[in-house]
Amino acid sequence: MTDRYAVFGNPIGHSLSPRIHALFAAQCGEDLSYEAILAPLDDFAGALRGFIATGGRGANVTVPFKEQAYRLADVRTPRAEAAGAVNTLSFGGDGIVGDNTDGAGLVRDLTVNLGVDPGGRRILLLGAGGAARGVVLPLLEQKPAALFIANRTADKARQLAARFAAQGRIQGGGFELLDARAFDLVINATSAGLTGAVLPAPTFAADALAYEMVYGRMTPFLRQAQAACARTVDGLGMLVEQAAEAFLLWRGVRPQTAPVLAALRAIRQA
Ligand code: ATR
Repeated sequence: MTDRYAVFGNPIGHSLSPRIHALFAAQCGEDLSYEAILAPLDDFAGALRGFIATGGRGANVTVPFKEQAYRLADVRTPRAEAAGAVNTLSFGGDGIVGDNTDGAGLVRDLTVNLGVDPGGRRILLLGAGGAARGVVLPLLEQKPAALFIANRTADKARQLAARFAAQGRIQGGGFELLDARAFDLVINATSAGLTGAVLPAPTFAADALAYEMVYGRMTPFLRQAQAACARTVDGLGMLVEQAAEAFLLWRGVRPQTAPVLAALRAIRQA
């Protein structure tokens, strides 16, 4: 029988995850289906239970349910604990197992796809919401020279940095952190790009990379970076890599991401 997987979100109509997992399954010869499920804003738990009751084997979770998925999980991996959010669920003998593959996906996109080693670099992470929280520990594990977290609400960034103070050189604060230093890697984990809101511009070091987690649109952040002659990239690679990590978890085989990423970029440009 075909194994069922799904991504839960609200909204979910534009999710690329069904297409990504269909390409992975075809490539790896895995017999599975993967659908997008619009969960009601007030009953994510009910939608998930319904899916499990009808034979669901695993699920991805996206906005705005990642924190709820964290709370619903019977067992959580260390990286899910660190992120305080869950984007990948597996259903089996241990109950609902919650994991978070977002940070691993970002690091893999940086190191493997983009050839950027965060080790020894000055990193600026913009934002202190769910998207930022998921990547702090995986970034620190790459041993950057320092990780600065700057957020509109400075206290949130300070608290986030404090949680990981034992894991590396990290500092949180408001956008004043952008003053008086240049960054090798700037990651925009705010949702400002979705509304077109403009963030204060950081100073980019020579050969800096500007990484916009939002994908598929020219955001003010990317425009600022291009104006400063920094290399720019959007979050499509992170999306595909977090999906590959989930696929590996569920099926025990790591799919090749390069052809999938190339196919998605080609569709977008068509
Ligand atoms: P997500 O899960 O996508 O991170 P979130 O938890 O709501 O969503 O966090 C959104 C992030 O984008 C926050 O860091 C938010 O800053 P605040 O903590 O000050 O709210 C940031 N953000 C959203 N819109 C912004 C804007 N117009 N300017 C600056 N930061 C913005």
